[in-house]
Amino acid sequence: MTERLISPQMSEEEQIIEGSLRPRHLAEYIGQEKIKGNLSILLEAARQRNEAVDHVLLYGPPGLGKTTLCNIIAAEMGVNLRTTSGPAIEHAGDLAAILTSLQPGEVLFIDEIHRLARAVEERLYSAMEDFALDVMIGKGPSARSLRLSLPPFTVVGATTRVGSMTAPLRDRFGAIYRMEYYDKEALNKILHRSARILKVPVEEDGIEEIGGRARGTPRIVNRLLKRVRDYAQVRADGVITREVARAALEAMEIDELGLDQTDRNMLLTIIQKFNGGPVGLDTLAASTSEDAYTIEDVYEPYLLQLGFIARTPRGRVALQAAYQHLEVTPPGGGNGPGLWTTLP
Ligand SMILES: Nc1ncnc2c1ncn2[C@@H]1O[C@H](COP(=O)(O)OP(=O)(O)OP(=O)(O)O)[C@@H](O)[C@H]1O
Ligand SMILES: [Mg+2]
Repeated sequence: MTERLISPQMSEEEQIIEGSLRPRHLAEYIGQEKIKGNLSILLEAARQRNEAVDHVLLYGPPGLGKTTLCNIIAAEMGVNLRTTSGPAIEHAGDLAAILTSLQPGEVLFIDEIHRLARAVEERLYSAMEDFALDVMIGKGPSARSLRLSLPPFTVVGATTRVGSMTAPLRDRFGAIYRMEYYDKEALNKILHRSARILKVPVEEDGIEEIGGRARGTPRIVNRLLKRVRDYAQVRADGVITREVARAALEAMEIDELGLDQTDRNMLLTIIQKFNGGPVGLDTLAASTSEDAYTIEDVYEPYLLQLGFIARTPRGRVALQAAYQHLEVTPPGGGNGPGLWTTLP
């Protein structure tokens, strides 16, 4: 698979450049007003009491700013951030090594927390709840368990699939925030900020054009800005005007809603091969040669948000808005609204 321009997942190149565009303080973090409001109270209260911040769980589609927000939490509290991820902590011993090296108040960021191994997750329960770690000493009949106490610390967990987390783990987070797609205004602000940092000349109309096609996602907005900048430099005089942005995005086959060839292919597969659905996730994955996990985590959330598809117990269905956007007729020729698939 070639790399998708509008993939909300991060490429290696971006990991390096992204640093400069990443907001460092809560005041610089654009959008997500509800979360920012609640989070600033959480942080302020912990600061006043001189305590570690309660554990925070951030969930939502990729590229919306979970990692950024976690960095901000540590920065605002003036503490160190330790970063790891669910799959990186393979054994309970790995977790013990991390936890026993934490300083009071430090933030431990666990990305993809839904992918923690069972045994590791179970160890984390008491660590989060009582700041205590049970370790086994010795083997066989003489083995005994020893309870170590840990300094108070903060776990910030991030996940794209909160539904895959176990209830006991979820319950150990004092604050659970759901990240939302960004509205146009917020995306435009992010674009202005990034253009300023990257020193790219932009016109308001050019910003509008890019913001409208970025799927409500900061990571995509920044990526499109960079690619449009290249286009403006090579094909025009360097300034991102509406015309330049439009031409660049059309050349990249990203339509007015931010859909690319892969999205359109997926929708057309549901509509034409499966008569509008329902079609099961695995069947859809097989007929589009995409990975089921990727479809569910990366492609679908935005199509669901647009109201282009729906998840039903029997599988995915294409909705009226998708037919209209792709200008295709629904199964049966489209002679009446009854033929459209509507939400149950
Ligand atoms: N609120 C924001 N304001 C400005 N820029 C933002 C904001 N949120 C995210 N960004 C930009 O988008 C990029 C992607 O954000 P981030 O890496 O935090 O997403 P994520 O939710 O952790 O994604 P993933 O699920 O893939 O780990 C950041 O590097 C940053 O430049
Ligand atoms: Mg992240």
